Order: sequence, then C-alpha cells, then structure tokens
Amino acid sequence: MSLKTKVGIIGGGPSGLMLSQLLDLRGIDNIVLEKHSREYVLGRIRAGVLEHGFAELMREAQCGERMDAEGEIHEGFYIADNGKMQRVDLAGHTGGNSVVVYGQTELTRDLYDAREKMGGNVIHNVEDVKLNDLKSDAPYITYRDGDEIIRIDCDYVIGADGFHGVSRKSIPADVLQEYEKVYPFGWLGVLSRTKPVSPELVYAKNDRGFALCSMRSQVLSRYYIQVPLTDTVEDWSDDAFWDELKARLPQDVADALETGPSIEKSIAPLRSFVAEPMRYGNLFLAGDAAHIVPPTGARGLNSAASDIYYLYHAMVDHYENSDDTGLENYSEKALARIWKAQRFSWWMTSLLHTFPESISYDSKLQKTDMEYLFSSEAALTSLAENYVGLPF
Ligand code: APR
Ligand code: PHB
Repeated sequence: MSLKTKVGIIGGGPSGLMLSQLLDLRGIDNIVLEKHSREYVLGRIRAGVLEHGFAELMREAQCGERMDAEGEIHEGFYIADNGKMQRVDLAGHTGGNSVVVYGQTELTRDLYDAREKMGGNVIHNVEDVKLNDLKSDAPYITYRDGDEIIRIDCDYVIGADGFHGVSRKSIPADVLQEYEKVYPFGWLGVLSRTKPVSPELVYAKNDRGFALCSMRSQVLSRYYIQVPLTDTVEDWSDDAFWDELKARLPQDVADALETGPSIEKSIAPLRSFVAEPMRYGNLFLAGDAAHIVPPTGARGLNSAASDIYYLYHAMVDHYENSDDTGLENYSEKALARIWKAQRFSWWMTSLLHTFPESISYDSKLQKTDMEYLFSSEAALTSLAENYVGLPF
C-alpha cells in the first residue's frame, strides 16, 4: 500500500502531535507515525513545568482548555541550600511572567484528543520505520504493518521520534555532529497521592545530594532525589525514599511532608545532548530527537516548543506564501535557542547537585555561585528569565 501527504511526522510524543495539530489547523496535510500504542505513550511519566511560550502554543493549537482549567500558574519557586530556603520571584524578575504546572502526560492526552477530534491521521504500532531519499525532492517513509510494507510519499519528513528514534540516525555520520555530557548520577522519582509539601516547587541542594519537591495537582505530588547511577529502583523502598528525601530538605519542610505509597517509581540518568545540524535535505529534527537536557531547569519540553514553533511557521510560509526562508534558517535558529537552554540546564544542574568526583576548589565555586545568586538582582533576573523561557 502507498500513501501520500505533505508532511510525514515520525513520533507521536508531544513534539510530533503538536506540530501535526498546528499544521492541520492551517490545512497542511500530515501523517504521524508512532512506534507504540496510545496507552503506552500516555503511561510515561514526564516532567510538569510549562513555560509561558509553550502554554501559548497549546492555546494556538486549540488544546489549551484543560491546561488553563487544571494547570496551576506559578510565579516563583524555592531554592533550599541545606537548611536555608530562599524564593526566586519569577514574576518580579521578568515583568510578570510565570510558568504553568501541568503534567506532560496530561498535555499529551489533550493533544491526542484534539488530533482525534479533528480526524488527524495518527498511525500507531508502526514497525521498521525507514527514511528514504531525504536529499531528493521526493523523500518517502516506509514502515511495516504486520507483513505489509507501507510507503508514504511526502514533501518533508519531521524527525520527532525522541532520543532513541531512527530519524537522527538517518543522517550520515560525516554530516552529523553530536555533543554530549553525561552526569555521574540519576534522579529517582516518586509519584504519590499526597498533598504537595509546598505550594511552589522546592529545589533543594544538600550535602547528601539534590532533592526536588514538585507536584501534578493539589492531591498528587512528584518528588525526586539524586542517586548514584549504580542504584536501582529495587534498592529504594518507599520508606527509604521518604527518609532520604526528608533528610535533604530544610527541617520545617521535612516536618510538613505528607508521605504515602508510591504510585510510580523510576530512575532517570541525567544527560545533556545536542545533534547538529537539525536539517538534512528534507528531514527536519525536532524535540528530543535532536537534543536532551537534564531535568533540573525544566527545559525538556520547553526546548521542543521552540523547534515546533519555528517549523510550524516555516511550513506555513512555504505552503501559503512560497517563502522558504524559515525552512532554510531552521537549523541555525533552532540551535541558537537550544544551546541557551543547554547552558541553563547545565548551570542549574551544576549549582544544585553533589558531584562525587568534585575537588575542593569546585565545591568552593559552587558555594560562591549560590551566594552570588541570592545577593545579586542581576543574577536572579538571569535565572528567572531562563526559567520562564527565553523568547522564541
Ligand atoms: N518510529 C516511530 N515512532 C518512534 C520511533 C520510531 N522508530 N522511535 C521512537 N518513536 C516515538 C516514541 O515512542 C515516542 O512516543 O517517538 C516519540 C517521541 O516522543 P518523546 O520522546 O516524548 O519526544 P518529544 O515528542 O520530542 O518530546 C519532548 O520533552 O520533557 C521532555 O523528554 C521529554 O519527551 C519529552 C520531550
Ligand atoms: C516535575 O514535576 O516532574 C519536574 C518539575 C521541575 C523540574 C523537573 C521535573 O525541574
């Protein structure tokens, strides 16, 4: 069987679905190919902080209704330094900007619902996806459905298939440059049906290791602790997790912490990664397929947002105005913002974690970085403008 579309999108995560929805609203025909079932995709627990620009994109995609009703606007967060809590006033340092706390799983569900409502073509459980003739004017994608090989002819291919996808790997090795930094620890995350310990997020630096108090709603909390990469989930009973989390929080926060059974528990390694260029012929990479950040600055989904924004506008300019400037500039423009998000995530990770191999000089610098942050309006403004999201 063979199909034809304008834009073939590989990956039905937030990046692929968002682009599909935006293009469809402008009448630009597209097909999304997703390796897994919808239930599987919606079973993944991901971060939950959306910057202003991403929330706007959700609204433009006509998917913002539930996010606006159920998401919480946060105008600040806390940084605890061992016992001491200090607030970062996001709104005060950015002329009133804020972030929306809304789980990425819920956001993906909203995007799937919107695609379904519009009759969008999202094909699940595709196998052996291959990208062909990317350098030509007639690229095509093939995939296997049982015994059958399906061919999709398209104008453009979007690689939105995450870090482990096939798209980035379809770029020849002599063209692709990869930049990577792996951190010597991971985050152990626990989701629990308990009241969040604080109305705003708490990022806690502690000699025992980093901890984060986050939330999904007023009855659902998300907590993390830094753990060695050698640890497994089986090493951590719920009780051991709560005890360690409490030990890393200021005493009054620890005393107020409501504990309960974990609903989900997992360990994620921390990685910084960028692939360049983000365009190869008629293939355009977007989101996790091209770049990964450690979760510390909540930049993951928000880095994907600018890729989608640039691609969406570039496609509209191409199909509606025969203007290819956006497509030609895509890689350079997207990477400029991506590297700023990389810098910020690396900085926040370095500021707050305990590094096993660090020498005493590094520890002194880390301490000084924290002291400088809370003694300088300029430093706080820099943190705040990056956290709420640099402009697209
Ligand atoms: N063919 C088709 N789909 C694939 C393939 C493939 N070969 N490989 C992977 N996929 C699918 C995955 O199953 C996944 O659903 O691509 C999707 C990629 O989604 P994500 O990994 O969520 O990446 P992205 O959509 O770019 O999301 C942005 O922001 O907070 C961060 O990492 C977080 O996922 C989040 C990201
Ligand atoms: C989360 O809620 O999962 C979360 C929030 C903020 C982060 C990372 C993760 O920086």
